[in-house]
Amino acid sequence: MTGASRGIGAAIARRLAAEGVLVAVHYGRRKADAEQTVASIEQAGGQAFAIRADLAADDALDTLFSELATGLAGRPLNILVNNAAVYADPDDPAAAQADGYVAGISEVTQEEFDRIFSVNVRAPFFVTQRCLPLLADGGRIVNISSAVTRIAWPLLPYAMSKGALEIMAPRLANELGHRGITVNTIAPGITDNTKTNTWLHDMPGAAEGVAAMTALRRLGQPSDIADVVALLASDDARWVTGQLVDASGGMALAPTPPGM
Ligand SMILES: NC(=O)c1ccc[n+]([C@@H]2O[C@H](COP(=O)([O-])OP(=O)(O)OC[C@H]3O[C@@H](n4cnc5c(N)ncnc54)[C@H](OP(=O)(O)O)[C@@H]3O)[C@@H](O)[C@H]2O)c1
Repeated sequence: MTGASRGIGAAIARRLAAEGVLVAVHYGRRKADAEQTVASIEQAGGQAFAIRADLAADDALDTLFSELATGLAGRPLNILVNNAAVYADPDDPAAAQADGYVAGISEVTQEEFDRIFSVNVRAPFFVTQRCLPLLADGGRIVNISSAVTRIAWPLLPYAMSKGALEIMAPRLANELGHRGITVNTIAPGITDNTKTNTWLHDMPGAAEGVAAMTALRRLGQPSDIADVVALLASDDARWVTGQLVDASGGMALAPTPPGM
């Protein structure tokens, strides 16, 4: 799975590994995060290996699939999770701007826009294309989108990229259904314990405010998303395909009344 080194991706990797899945923990730049995720899986009795490829780079696919082949060592591929995405880098305020996290339309450059679309749209498209000959019949594809396609927060290029990603599932589901492969999308809301969302705890009142935006009145956790991926990847979800599943705790289901 892509972007499995930290945040939501790491939680998905740990959850799938707990189900007995051998997980390819893909990362882009932060090897230590990937090694930590692999170690935590192994400590829990699971199996995983790390693979690196910068999904914005021209040679991303060759690098990714070469490392994947080495790690799989002939074992089958059953599940693809397209999770990696860029929108903000909390380690680097300049990169956060570059990822279009806070920029309005006037500030977004073509380079920034292209970078977001290369990682969030082009990469899952061509990673999926390259996976298809390897993916076993009856396999699973899960794309990770975002509630920003439904809720008009800023993050305009990011939201547009996730809108494009969401288009994949129904069409691919139809194309791949004859092989028993399901294709679904999960859309998380604002999720706690991700590096992107440290502001939840840095800004006074932010955590309470975001919790109040959900129908279930709490912050979402990476494990909330991982459990839904595990469900869609399981045999129990064999009859669910082409669907968009909101996993936001019911975020912004209705306008917030004045004074609340
Ligand atoms: N956090 C939220 O509140 C939230 C809400 C809605 C949807 N989502 C979606 O959920 C998914 C995971 O979000 P997250 O917050 O957990 O992400 P994150 O903490 O920022 O982690 C992103 C992952 O993607 C990898 N990645 C980023 N750019 C890459 C590149 N150019 N090449 C290769 N790998 C790259 C990172 O690896 P390196 O660190 O090594 O680069 C990391 O493993 C994303 O699709 C995101 O859009 C998140």
